[in-house]
Amino acid sequence: MDIHQKLCAWYRENKRDLPWRKTKDPYKIWLSEIILQQTRVQQGLPYYIDFIETFPTVKALAEATEDEVLRHWQGLGYYSRARNLHATAKMIASQYKGKFPQSHEGLLSLKGIGPYTAAAIASFAFGLPHAVVDGNVYRVLARLYDIDLNILDNASRKHFQEVAENTMHKEEADLFNQAIMEFGALHCTAQLPHCEDCPLSEHCLALAHGKVDERPVRIKHLERRQRFLHYLFLHDGDHVWIRQRSEKDIWQGLWEFPLFEEDKACDWAELLQRHPEIKTWIGLGAEIAAERSFRHQLTHQELFATFFPVIKLGEKACVPKDFLKIRMEELDNYALSRLSLKYLEKFNF
Ligand code: ADE
Repeated sequence: MDIHQKLCAWYRENKRDLPWRKTKDPYKIWLSEIILQQTRVQQGLPYYIDFIETFPTVKALAEATEDEVLRHWQGLGYYSRARNLHATAKMIASQYKGKFPQSHEGLLSLKGIGPYTAAAIASFAFGLPHAVVDGNVYRVLARLYDIDLNILDNASRKHFQEVAENTMHKEEADLFNQAIMEFGALHCTAQLPHCEDCPLSEHCLALAHGKVDERPVRIKHLERRQRFLHYLFLHDGDHVWIRQRSEKDIWQGLWEFPLFEEDKACDWAELLQRHPEIKTWIGLGAEIAAERSFRHQLTHQELFATFFPVIKLGEKACVPKDFLKIRMEELDNYALSRLSLKYLEKFNF
């Protein structure tokens, strides 16, 4: 048996039972792949099920409001995925009569569908011979062929794509793609690969060369941007004030507590000095509870957040009109950034 056959045999024995593997509907496959792009299967699965129930077709998704889509995405993070998903659904509904293009090229021409997602839909929905290359695939191939290219370098993708497509039997591209991803997720794992009982050990060059732990090569050139966020948790008895974010960034469209972004971490006195309007908002003699700070790491950003709880408004308080006053229980109805959720959870509000 060759590598393709061994991988597929392993997959038949070991695969997890996952709903998107039982469908050829390009919409469902697309949705699952977008969810799974930066999310583990266990975390993504309930979101997938909820999405399919709420928006069973690309048309249903296209007809939803962005806020509704974001609300269902709430907690998954990387909200641009949800916004792109929605925008692409609208485009497919309006320009393609709700039908996905049936070629890799056609899929790639859609805004928000890159080479990975196009290959996944082309192979799983239409049986076309395109290899998916995601983190798991990079790892399995880098080990099998002892490839020392830096996988964080965009130019490496083409090479891995070719290696994958030369390894697969074209008529079983869909099976091969699922198999190699599953093998990477469950067997040829990053930290503890099961080399001692690996069905591919006799093909594995990294194993032969003693390089398993060094593959794949990941050299970071990335500098994380540091941001300093200061939130006002304006709280008055049972109510809290929130506002919708309009700035074009990763949280666009989400709701949040009033936010001040500064060039450094500020304490309460500094914040008031920089933004004297806060004094008007909260009034005279407002009660301020102890501030809470934490760090939140994203792929390209490191966030330092401080929450200032104003637990009782003072005399002549004047909260701006564009802030929305809602009851605490209603917070669940709004898509909040993960950072704000983390705060609420951590401090039991
Ligand atoms: N991760 C990305 N795509 C996947 C898929 N189709 N099945 C399981 N895990 C995945």
